[in-house]
Amino acid sequence: MERLAERKRLFNEHGERDWGKRRIIGGNPTNIMELTNVKYEWAQKLSDIMLRNFWIPEEVPLLDDAKQYLELTADEQWAYDRMLSFVIFMDSILTVSMPNLINYVTAPEINMCLSIHNFHEALHSKSYGYVLESVVPAERRQYIYDLWREDRQLLERNRYIANTFQLFADNPTDEHFVRACMAQYVLEGIYFYSGFAFFYALARMGKMKGTATEIQFINRDEITHVAVFQNILNGLRQERPQLFTPQLDADLRAMIRQAAEHEMAWAAYCVGNRIQGLSGEVLQGYVKHLADQRARALGFEPLYGNHPNPIKWVESFSNLNQTKADFFETRVTNYAKSTNIDLDDL
Ligand SMILES: [Fe+2]
Ligand SMILES: [Fe+2]
Repeated sequence: MERLAERKRLFNEHGERDWGKRRIIGGNPTNIMELTNVKYEWAQKLSDIMLRNFWIPEEVPLLDDAKQYLELTADEQWAYDRMLSFVIFMDSILTVSMPNLINYVTAPEINMCLSIHNFHEALHSKSYGYVLESVVPAERRQYIYDLWREDRQLLERNRYIANTFQLFADNPTDEHFVRACMAQYVLEGIYFYSGFAFFYALARMGKMKGTATEIQFINRDEITHVAVFQNILNGLRQERPQLFTPQLDADLRAMIRQAAEHEMAWAAYCVGNRIQGLSGEVLQGYVKHLADQRARALGFEPLYGNHPNPIKWVESFSNLNQTKADFFETRVTNYAKSTNIDLDDL
């Protein structure tokens, strides 16, 4: 298997001058961040959207959540802790793995876009720290960070995800780069969402609304991240069609199915039929719907026959920029200048 060109030099005096010859990977950049002419306009546009979506986790009031956390039913608290622990893991692995991916990207505008994206993942990690400190009693905070040590299901999920990223870190071939991008795409586009829906379901019952507001901001970021990796994967297919052998394509589509199956099992495990207003079965339908959406966006046949979304109400939470008034009437600054960001053309 061909190895990637060496990690790009930090400053390459013999780099390509013609911006039209930029490549997602395998190019020959000087590494001057020349952004006046860009080849990948989607990267520039998504960078602007991500910057306009700036938010500060500590602006969300969580006092009520701290009281309500102690009043949750045992099943709700059990699920809350696990869902939180899993999203903490995901944003952690992205925060530490993305710089490695960025080291191989040879277009400055994509480099910039991924750096802002990487900042988001660190910000999400910061927001969970704030939620833990504000909502969860001191003696339980470490327990939630450490849940994977005792929860077999959680450990296996974390391991599987970490291994998909470790593969590229240990053996950085072009093909492994594509697989790592796919791993990131399904993480951003499928793995987070039963957790998101769970937090929104609690909020619909008037519980843990502050946590749900944090999640809304995170969700808004994740939607832009899905667009980033959709563009990278579709761009790589255009630039390097020979990489996408029938075998690799079959494997990539199988990764979407695998992600959906893991997420459905997780939903059944965490939520089952024990949470009011949400069932594991409905969540599984939601995951199938998302998996089909993600597959179509990459030109793959949907896996579950274009499964409809069984919980349309989730959109009233996830479309934060289209929310007329603050949904929860908290005084959170929405820095986003645009109220109607359309990601479809990206
Ligand atoms: Fe994130
Ligand atoms: Fe993300």
